Amino acid sequence: MRKINTEVTIGRVTMKNPVTTGSGTFGSGLQMTDYVDLRRLGAITIKGTTLTPRDGTVPPRVVETRSAIIGSVGLENPGVDTVVREILPQVAQYGTPVIVNIGGSTTAEYGEVARRLDACAEVAAIEVNISCPNLKAGGLGFGTDPKTAGAVIAAVRKNTGKTVIAKLTPAVTDIVTMAKAVIDNGAEALTMCNGYPAMAIDIHTRRPALGNVQGGLCGPALKPIFMRLVWQAAQAVDVPIIALGGILNADDAIEYLLAGATGVSVGTGNLLDPATTMKVAGGIEQYLEENGFSYIHEIIGLAWKA
Ligand SMILES: Cc1cc2nc3c(=O)[nH]c(=O)nc-3n(C[C@H](O)[C@H](O)[C@H](O)COP(=O)(O)O)c2cc1C
Repeated sequence: MRKINTEVTIGRVTMKNPVTTGSGTFGSGLQMTDYVDLRRLGAITIKGTTLTPRDGTVPPRVVETRSAIIGSVGLENPGVDTVVREILPQVAQYGTPVIVNIGGSTTAEYGEVARRLDACAEVAAIEVNISCPNLKAGGLGFGTDPKTAGAVIAAVRKNTGKTVIAKLTPAVTDIVTMAKAVIDNGAEALTMCNGYPAMAIDIHTRRPALGNVQGGLCGPALKPIFMRLVWQAAQAVDVPIIALGGILNADDAIEYLLAGATGVSVGTGNLLDPATTMKVAGGIEQYLEENGFSYIHEIIGLAWKA
C-alpha cells in the first residue's frame, strides 16, 4: 500500500489525521478506550467545560426523532479546575492533541476559563462554544450576533496563547458574517456546527418531550444543511474548518472534506457505534489510496476548486 499522508493542521495544532470527536458525545475519551484507540485519533475534543461545576438540565435530556436526536444536557461538567487537575493529565497520556470545549454565561466567564486552561500544558486548543442551543444564559445567544460572538472570542484570545477555535451555530441567516466576526477577533479555526435548535412534544403527556423544552438537533439529518454552510464558509475564509454534523461513516466525512473542511468530527455517530471514529479514519485513508491521492490536502475543497 502506498504511503498516504493524512496530516492536517488546525490553527497551530498538527493532527495525524483529520478526525476528532464532537464535544459531549465522547466524554473525555477515557470512557471510550474499550472501543477506540485514542492514539489513532487526530485530536480528542472533550465535553464542554465551564468555570464552576454544573449539574446540567432536568431530564429527559435526549429524545429521538427521525434521522436525529434532540439533546439538552446543559453543559453538565465538573468545572475547569477539576478538568485540569484530574482529567487532562490522564487523557494527554495517549499523545493525541486534546481540544477543550468551553462554555459560559458571560464573556468574562469564557475569558477566565481560557486563562485557567492556558496554564495547562496538556491543552492543545480551546474550542469556544458560542452556540449551545439549550442554555438559559449565554450559548446560542452569543453566537447569533456578530458583535457578541466577536466579544467572546476576543475575551478568550486575550487570555490564551493556545489555538482558539470558534464553534458556530447553524441558526444564523449568514454564516459567513459570523465566521468573519470570530476570525477578526482571533479565532484561528471554526467548528461547524453545534446542534440546530429544536423541540418535540410527547403526545401522551401533552408536554414538551425534553425537561428543558428545547435542545439541539444532532445526527444524520443535519448533514445536508451543514454541508451547505461548510461549502459557503470554506470559500469565504482562510482558516481551517472542522466539519461536525451527521458524520456516521467515512463517506460522510469525505463529502465534507470535498466541500472544503480540513477536519471532520464525529458526534452522535459515537452514540450509535463507539468505534465510528476509527472506521472514519480508516475509510478516508482507503478512499485516498483507491483514488490515487497521496495527500489529504488534494481533496480538501476539491468540489469547488476543481
Ligand atoms: C449528548 C450531547 C452532548 C453535547 N454536548 C456538547 C457540549 O458540551 N459542547 C458543545 O459544544 N457541543 C455539544 N454537543 C453538540 C455536538 O458536539 C455536535 O455539535 C452536534 O451533536 C452535531 O454533530 P452530530 O450531528 O455529529 O451529532 C452535544 C451533543 C450531544 C448529542
